[in-house]
Amino acid sequence: MKVDGRHYRSIWIAADGTTVEAIDQTHLPHRFVIFAMTGLADAARAIATMQVRGAPLIGAAAAYGMALALREDASDAALERAYATLLATRPTAINLKWALDEMVAAVRNRPREARVAAGYARAREIADEDVTINEAIGRNGLALIEAISRRKPGERINVLTHCNAGWLATVDWGTATSAIYMAHDKGLPVHVWVDETRPRNQGASLTAWELGHHGVPHTVIPDNTGGHLMSHGLVDLAIVGTDRVTAQGDVCNKIGTYLKALAAFDNGVPFYVALPSPTIDFTVVDGLAEIPIEQRGPEEVATMTGRTADGRIETVTIVPEGSPVANYAFDVTPARLVTGLITERGVLAATRPALAAAFPERVESAKLAGRSAAG
Ligand code: MRU
Repeated sequence: MKVDGRHYRSIWIAADGTTVEAIDQTHLPHRFVIFAMTGLADAARAIATMQVRGAPLIGAAAAYGMALALREDASDAALERAYATLLATRPTAINLKWALDEMVAAVRNRPREARVAAGYARAREIADEDVTINEAIGRNGLALIEAISRRKPGERINVLTHCNAGWLATVDWGTATSAIYMAHDKGLPVHVWVDETRPRNQGASLTAWELGHHGVPHTVIPDNTGGHLMSHGLVDLAIVGTDRVTAQGDVCNKIGTYLKALAAFDNGVPFYVALPSPTIDFTVVDGLAEIPIEQRGPEEVATMTGRTADGRIETVTIVPEGSPVANYAFDVTPARLVTGLITERGVLAATRPALAAAFPERVESAKLAGRSAAG
């Protein structure tokens, strides 16, 4: 998507053909900074510190990280080490493991001297596929927004979203935002309620930034506002992203998503989840019991970072010294609260049969690995 009129992806290969560059999301919205990754350690650090974040982008960054690692050492032992290092960066988004498995499959049976080229080729493909998939998700989600627009022609269509499931969280387009961008580009009067998404404020810092750069009308709201808006008829639909969807359609996403799903259910507001197929984990069924929930450092809750009136970036403490804080980064929304899953193969019911019918090859490969929970 565009930043000041210029098209960017969130991650790309630099002009030298080997360095990986990406937008450093820890500086947004106040500074637009691009950083370079030249080795495995850079890629692992970028994922762990959330210079790059969002499930699909974590997958793409891990794929490029494997390519960088192969340049350093293309032996079997190094491949295993790189896999383990990258896998340990963040526990919840399954796109990370999916991408690492794809990379290993692409290089493992090749002679060492062919591994670097094969690794870069597969990493590029993974990034390109993400863009194609998200475009398809957008087309499928657009049909939902168009249906709402037909019911209230010319009136504002209010979409609520949580966290950042925008182009910054993917390679391009975004998942939840893809349909929004397409609706806006078609001239539909779409407006987005942007949950700020404490503690890291991915909504206020990233979603608002990218929507603003594309000219999409939006309003940032404190996280606890969604229920009020829904009960007053001010939300037509919610669309969120996800870090992992189970075989039965449970949805793991940024902390606070579950509360929005509950409010949506109580108010009859359609609650959609947009996802690329690499986000489906057919090896797990019960999201609450089986998905590891990342717990991050207390400083993310205990402090706020922002820009002062004279342009300095400052971090301040907002809790009393000594008060313990908890920082669960994700929660699980049970499938029964999900109106539909917007995927590249259509809008699916959040059920085991619907997911298995739409992605039979993924069920098959999970079975081959001896881990299918899809039945
Ligand atoms: O902790 P983050 O910022 O990586 O969490 C991101 C989210 O929860 C997104 O909503 C999710 O990854 C979907 S991104 C298309």
